[in-house]
Amino acid sequence: MVGIFDSGSGGLSVLREILKILPRERFIYYADNANCPYGEKTLDFIIERGRAITKTLLDRGAGIIVIACNTATGAAISTLRAEFPVKFIGMEPAVKPAALSSRTGVIGVLATAATFKTSKYLTTKGRYEDNTRIVEHVGEGFVELVERGILKGAVAESVVRRSLKPLLDEGADRIVLGCTHYPFLMDVIRKVAGPGVEVIDPAPAAARRLLEVMKEEGLPLEDPHPGVELVTSGDRGSAERLLKMIRYA
Ligand code: DGL
Repeated sequence: MVGIFDSGSGGLSVLREILKILPRERFIYYADNANCPYGEKTLDFIIERGRAITKTLLDRGAGIIVIACNTATGAAISTLRAEFPVKFIGMEPAVKPAALSSRTGVIGVLATAATFKTSKYLTTKGRYEDNTRIVEHVGEGFVELVERGILKGAVAESVVRRSLKPLLDEGADRIVLGCTHYPFLMDVIRKVAGPGVEVIDPAPAAARRLLEVMKEEGLPLEDPHPGVELVTSGDRGSAERLLKMIRYA
């Protein structure tokens, strides 16, 4: 069984990609929505939540854990790897593919305020910023939209436009979605960004990495009881709706 967690429903965008390549596996998804958003919390708080959630997932039988949250990956993955005898797969901000494919030499990264402060993100950025201009912006209000299930329409468009504008004004032709909530707004982001801009969701790469590590570790890729068990620390409504949406996508 694969354990997955996020501050809320965002990690379901990663589970959606995982289900495409591991359709017969069993998953336990923990949405820490009572503590969402992580993006405004301290690194210590996020590490503490990572520990508590990891314990819960292991107690429930997870054999590998996906941190389907860029903020929690940046804040906690090295601590969790040092403390727990289980493999962790984290989210990588897709700065590399964006930087290598950009024609304008300018890429935009949308992520949470906490992610931009993590050494993991700063190290990745440092590798590419000599040759590429990296423009950053917090997707302000994006997490709240997704948690409320507002994935399209005029309100979503105006919220998205506000955070995308500074990136587009600087000439970014690649936009990296550095928070797992944001891909649920993909249609709106693409519409606002326009046809000349490629929007990159790192979830498929994370799903491929999970499969690779499961094979390396000799973990079973199927379960006699395939499916998704949902655990939430707060209200279940939003996560249940999005889970239904990704399973029938
Ligand atoms: N989904 C998360 C991420 O990938 C966190 C969003 C939040 O809780 O602020 O960063």
